[in-house]
Amino acid sequence: MTDSKKPFLSDIQELRRRARQHIEKGAVTEGYRADRETVIRILNEALATEIVCVLRYKRHYFMAAGIHAQAVAQEFLEHANEEQQHADQIAERITQLDGEPNFSPEGLASRSHSEYVEGTTLIEMLKEDLVAERIAIESYGEIVRYLGNDDPTTRRMMESILAVEEEHADDLKTLLETFAK
Ligand SMILES: [Fe+2]
Ligand SMILES: [Fe+2]
Repeated sequence: MTDSKKPFLSDIQELRRRARQHIEKGAVTEGYRADRETVIRILNEALATEIVCVLRYKRHYFMAAGIHAQAVAQEFLEHANEEQQHADQIAERITQLDGEPNFSPEGLASRSHSEYVEGTTLIEMLKEDLVAERIAIESYGEIVRYLGNDDPTTRRMMESILAVEEEHADDLKTLLETFAK
């Protein structure tokens, strides 16, 4: 038999039978190949990372002062809102995997990959935000590679978030270049 004539997946009857079992598991079927508990733990760390980023950008938004503050503050606010969207996406995916999103302030900073650094000057804030984005880029890249083909939905979500973090890092780099002269 040539490859193109191979039956798709396993046996359709078997597939239907399996789907009927454990319907309480929602999107998680027997075909789910990743280690669900590990994926949920990793996603909760990413959720903490996003929440810490929201808090840090909000702080920076309200504290931005000086000649260039208006434009930079707007950028901080935009990033804060995008990090909030990421947090929501990740929390939603955790519930799809039958997990519980951890929004507890207890231990939030240690669950997060990136740090909450206040910074005093505009330049310091921009530098700290760039460092945090670079940490997110590294750790999300690792998550994407870990997920591979075992959980393509979570992987695609993390890839799309990663792309936005790369944009954030680039925005910050441009701002730093503009003001650090
Ligand atoms: Fe984010
Ligand atoms: Fe970001």
